Amino acid sequence: MNRLDGKVAFLSGAARGIGGETARLMAQAGAKVAIGDVLDERGRQTAREIEAAGGEALYVSLDVTQEASWTAALAATLKKFGGLDILVNNAGIFNGKGVEDATLDEWHRLVAVNLTGVVLGTRAALPHLRERGQTSPHGSAIVNLASVAGLVGSQLDPLYSLTKGGVTLFTKSTALEFGRKGYRIRVNSIHPGVIDTDMGQQTFAMRAQALGTNDTTATRKTSLAMHPIGRLGEAEDIAKGIVFLASDDAGFMTGSGLVVDGGYTAQ
Ligand SMILES: NC(=O)c1ccc[n+]([C@@H]2O[C@H](COP(=O)([O-])OP(=O)(O)OC[C@H]3O[C@@H](n4cnc5c(N)ncnc54)[C@H](O)[C@@H]3O)[C@@H](O)[C@H]2O)c1
Repeated sequence: MNRLDGKVAFLSGAARGIGGETARLMAQAGAKVAIGDVLDERGRQTAREIEAAGGEALYVSLDVTQEASWTAALAATLKKFGGLDILVNNAGIFNGKGVEDATLDEWHRLVAVNLTGVVLGTRAALPHLRERGQTSPHGSAIVNLASVAGLVGSQLDPLYSLTKGGVTLFTKSTALEFGRKGYRIRVNSIHPGVIDTDMGQQTFAMRAQALGTNDTTATRKTSLAMHPIGRLGEAEDIAKGIVFLASDDAGFMTGSGLVVDGGYTAQ
């Protein structure tokens, strides 16, 4: 189950966190993985760790907001691995400020990374994914990182929520567009609850700030209470879902959203 033998995957924002763990699991599942990020040191280290564990990995500098950066990163991936079967649009940033509090620059930055980054990644990878999709039994795959914040409203981070809602519907729309055009590329999103990564820590800090305190222990506890399963998520919880969506075991899935949220949106 969930094997990726012979496949090549490109993951944005995979120097650390959910993307880093996904790159590790994908390599264990037999894929060659290319990691793109703005955190060069951390990204190289993640690639080295994957190779030390017997996997095949490449680190490339990537700023998802820049079209030329995508072109260069994918060219390096194709040069080393010879093709592309899987794109994981994972890079993202968080902003926990209210509508009245965030600056216009902060909003533009959020849009640039969380939305423009996904559009540019999809466009840049498209010809390569199409090519491999023609010969693969279940086609190529794109997995987009949305969020529970792309499914239900958020009291404290409406702007972040707007970007993730966009990712949710871009996923469905591109699945339909590529299906209509006969591209043989499945597109699905994944919707994590709160995950204990650097971004997770940042959400606790920003929520405390929004409430006018420094008490991140309290905001962590509030977040925890929203997960009926009784714990926050780990990067691995989400990575396993991404590997599944990228694998041929999800061969009949496209335009879907896989919710991995410890019950957050069940209530
Ligand atoms: N942690 C959570 O609670 C949570 C919940 C739901 C969804 N998500 C989503 O999952 C994805 C991964 O989040 P994470 O928790 O691993 O966060 P993280 O902050 O640990 O990792 C995000 C990665 O994206 C990279 N990145 C940021 N801007 C970039 C840019 N312009 N170009 C290239 N890379 C860039 C960062 O350097 C970092 O390595 C994000 O899209 C996030 O919105 C996270």
